[in-house]
Amino acid sequence: MTVRTSVKILLLGLGHVGQAAGEILAEKGDWIRRRYGLSTEIIGVADSSGIVFDGNGRGIDVERAINAKRRSGRVSEYGKDEGLRLAGTSELEVVLDETQPDVLVDVSSNDEAFSWHVAALERGVAVVTSNKPPVALHYKELITLSRRNETPYLFEATVMAGTPIIALLRRALLGDTVTGIRAVLNATTTFILTMMENGANMDEAVKKAREMGILERDPRKDLDGIDAGYKAAILHDVAFGPIEFERVDVTGISGLREEDVRGRNVRLVASIEDGRAEVRPIDLPDGHPLAVTGTENAALIETDLLGELLIKGAGGGARETASGVVSDIIEASLSLRA
Ligand code: HSE
Repeated sequence: MTVRTSVKILLLGLGHVGQAAGEILAEKGDWIRRRYGLSTEIIGVADSSGIVFDGNGRGIDVERAINAKRRSGRVSEYGKDEGLRLAGTSELEVVLDETQPDVLVDVSSNDEAFSWHVAALERGVAVVTSNKPPVALHYKELITLSRRNETPYLFEATVMAGTPIIALLRRALLGDTVTGIRAVLNATTTFILTMMENGANMDEAVKKAREMGILERDPRKDLDGIDAGYKAAILHDVAFGPIEFERVDVTGISGLREEDVRGRNVRLVASIEDGRAEVRPIDLPDGHPLAVTGTENAALIETDLLGELLIKGAGGGARETASGVVSDIIEASLSLRA
């Protein structure tokens, strides 16, 4: 297939997921060209040290940017060597106007990124994100803006990493009425609970989760159920329509004692119905499909026509999350030439 579309990407966030997404786009560039007729080019990268970009909107060397980030912890160090420009993240709008990307990819964990998404959508720049709070807290405004400007707003990797539950709810089951979803959506609590099931105490299990890099920067987001609450809100948004995050009833695992967990199958379960979303620990029967282990997630979707449908797969991990990000980048890019 000949290349019909060249896609310019501005990548915000160069942590584990951003690095994995950059590497996958580089590794699979030829395959993406052959399969979809798309050529992707990263024209800027950012972390909290700033946005490094080429003033003329040309591609940058992502591998070198990742190496600089790994070496120094700051992407701004890359800009210095390459004669590229550096702007603060508060100057994002100026960078968007100067570089005119096609897709803004936000894989940061910046809670304030809502304004970035708005700035992009207002300019007709597609947004792809794995960043949960903007979607969970502002879905209605963002999706309205996306529709008004006919600009894609895609967030597959916010729930179940790259396991495609959002695509399933958005694009399949079009004649079905979804009646409910029950799901285990937070990998960290599953990991901690399975360690505790087998005799570890909470502190040991949290320490191990931190060592594995799956804990949120603020561990309370995992332990108090906020991360699972964000994901439950997003699934409600997609399956039933917008819900205010304040209406999600959340109980985490912080209050559990070892004797509540040892020898059982306790999991942090989200239950979602039209107009209602709840997250709380539940002791599941042996062999229950939601009694996942490790960093797996699972969701049981109930519909009028199909009955019960189970989707299960990776719920965390850098390349696993980047799978959803890259898929959304390709979807957004294909719509550019539609
Ligand atoms: N802290 C999150 C989890 C990471 O444990 O599921 C993936 O969203």
